[in-house]
Amino acid sequence: MLGRDARGTATIGGSSVETILASAGCGTPAYLYDIDGIRVAAQALEQSFGSAPHLIAYAAKANSAGPILESLFSEGCGADVVSGSELGLVLEAGLSPDKIVFSGVAKRDDEIDRALGAGPSGICAIQAESVEEIVRVAARARTVGRVGRISIRINPGIQIDTHAHVATGHDEAKFGVARGDLGEAYAAVDAARELRLVGLSSHIGSTQTTTEPYIAAARVLFDIVKAREAARGGLDFVDAGGGFGIDYGQGCKVAPGDFVRALLAAQRAAGLSHRLIIEPGRSLVGPFGVLVAGVIQSKVSRATDRRWLMIDAGMNDLIRPALYQARHLCESSDDFGIHELPTDPLPEHVVIRDTGAYGFTMASHYNGRCLPPEIFVSRGRIASLSQRGSEIAWIESRLRM
Ligand code: LLP
Repeated sequence: MLGRDARGTATIGGSSVETILASAGCGTPAYLYDIDGIRVAAQALEQSFGSAPHLIAYAAKANSAGPILESLFSEGCGADVVSGSELGLVLEAGLSPDKIVFSGVAKRDDEIDRALGAGPSGICAIQAESVEEIVRVAARARTVGRVGRISIRINPGIQIDTHAHVATGHDEAKFGVARGDLGEAYAAVDAARELRLVGLSSHIGSTQTTTEPYIAAARVLFDIVKAREAARGGLDFVDAGGGFGIDYGQGCKVAPGDFVRALLAAQRAAGLSHRLIIEPGRSLVGPFGVLVAGVIQSKVSRATDRRWLMIDAGMNDLIRPALYQARHLCESSDDFGIHELPTDPLPEHVVIRDTGAYGFTMASHYNGRCLPPEIFVSRGRIASLSQRGSEIAWIESRLRM
């Protein structure tokens, strides 16, 4: 996590940001991650389940860097993937197929085949989001000669207070099967000999800073689970999704473990005891990454009295502010306070906080800029790092088509 040393200098994972950058020798902008912080967050979340059977299926889209995946998997986490490539990545990182769930509204046939074909009996579950998808998975299972384990993602019809782009559980969202369509979805699964319905799931959206909507959705899910168990039985798990918020500077009173404890209580109240799956992404990695940018110059408009600090990171490195009007606290690596622009001398660096999730994974080559390097810090040392993307490779990729 971002901290400060006795001299007021920014630290990540206990080491000075300046020292890390200097020893990495890769310049700015660069992402820095506190691997030990990520491990501790995963351990705390594991412990919040007590002895209840569970799987933390880390949403790999939040940050799919190898050192992060390997740390989370070694703490016992599984993964929620949303593409064939993410599936390939987590398998390559050594994750057992039975700890993988596959979400997403538009899975291609080859991606479905990969999920069905992984390991001796496919992945834990393909999370089907429509009746049409169930029919397609059945056809693929028949073709590849495997039994497909399916979970149906239910749209609980619950709106959460978040940016419209990351709310997924309301009636108009394209995500999940509406309650009214569930009968047809069950019929499609039950009619297919090559499919087994092993779970029911929901995910109502990201950046939730209270537990109530999550639990309201879970109650809807538990009711549906009870009805299905009474009618047919056979469910192995219930997946309540992710979406736990973090403190981006506006506060977040609930910890990820609070969602789990409330979920366990709601499950008990419903009289159920299935294995619980959750799909957190942001909360496991967001607070443990920073984007360090170099300060280029200041700009002052004498006419309007406005001032800017020009830095070498742009929306190609971090698109969240542009896309979601997201605010990330910025600090210079010297202590001049939050969001106050420094006067001369300008600081060398600016540290943009809480960028461990949906930072690098949404970075692009926009404006012809290269992907930034990533530096992974553990026990006060650089455990690994990646190189900055290459300009030559980028130019080649644009010209030699
Ligand atoms: N499960 C499913 C099915 C999801 O679609 C997502 C995120 C998650 C789990 C993990 O949610 P989390 O715990 O990370 O909130 N690019 C946006 C976030 C989009 C999230 C999409 N789905 C951002 O930068 O805030």
